[in-house]
Amino acid sequence: MSKVTVVGAGAVGATCANVMACREVASEVVLIDIKEGLSEGKMLDMYQCSTLMDFDTKLVGATNDYKRSGNSDVVVITSGIPRKPGMTREELIGTNAEIMKGVIANIVKYSPRAIIIVVANPMDTLTYLALKASGLPKNRVIGMGGALDSSRFKCYLAKATGANINNIDGMVIGGHGDTTMIPLLSKASVNGVPVTQFASKKKLAEAVANTMVGGATLTKLIGTSAWYAPGAAASMMVESILHDQKKLIPCSCYLEGEYGENDLCIGVPAIIGRKGIEKIVELDLTKEEIEKFAASAAAVHKTNDVLREIKAI
Ligand code: LAC
Repeated sequence: MSKVTVVGAGAVGATCANVMACREVASEVVLIDIKEGLSEGKMLDMYQCSTLMDFDTKLVGATNDYKRSGNSDVVVITSGIPRKPGMTREELIGTNAEIMKGVIANIVKYSPRAIIIVVANPMDTLTYLALKASGLPKNRVIGMGGALDSSRFKCYLAKATGANINNIDGMVIGGHGDTTMIPLLSKASVNGVPVTQFASKKKLAEAVANTMVGGATLTKLIGTSAWYAPGAAASMMVESILHDQKKLIPCSCYLEGEYGENDLCIGVPAIIGRKGIEKIVELDLTKEEIEKFAASAAAVHKTNDVLREIKAI
């Protein structure tokens, strides 16, 4: 028996619930939203896919009813306003910090053993807020950004190299921001063979640049923030936790000295298993990557400071 709650029945939350149902990641998935009927309706619609997609996950929609989500093993938080074209993720902080605090209070009350995955933006700062507001140990609060950014990086690397996308290995660390994320070209490979053997420097630089604005590109095309890959990325993390897969996933983790940083949540590779963040993996970075990581951490710290200015922590 395993139970997952997704908070926020918008496009990302509903997609995450749908992917989890189709893959039978958990025995029960609860979707919560403040809008009357929205989560009930979406879960009923999904439930009606059961025989079509051959799954039997129990699906529950619950308007604002955290009791119904009680004793969840994992809670995915997607609630908050999404960014519109031209907005940065950081501009969402005031509204989304307020929402996050309310959600955290309910999770701590009804699902005290849960591992929390934060998807809402600005993701690294809201992960930090979730950690501080919940009082949970650092292994149980994880931000999703790096998993998504890495999947986008792999797509652009597949295009640049012409290789099969599932042969691509690539990782994005640092903050989940258009200018703060760090796609690690030095570690990218086609089945272990460096990508530099398959594409020109120029093409690879384009893949990096496209990855960094990956979310903004979609926001511009669609008119609002993306959902398919964000929802699938969160589901992949839940699966690694519940099935104790111990996948190495770049995600936002609380650092205490790792990578020379302290007191912030930022994207680093970590082993994700039944205990949440089981180990932060320290990479051998180039001098340039180390400098970029320090700059990225400084930017995340600055956004975290806004939490103190608005007295959210
Ligand atoms: C994105 C949002 C979810 O990158 O941050 O699409």
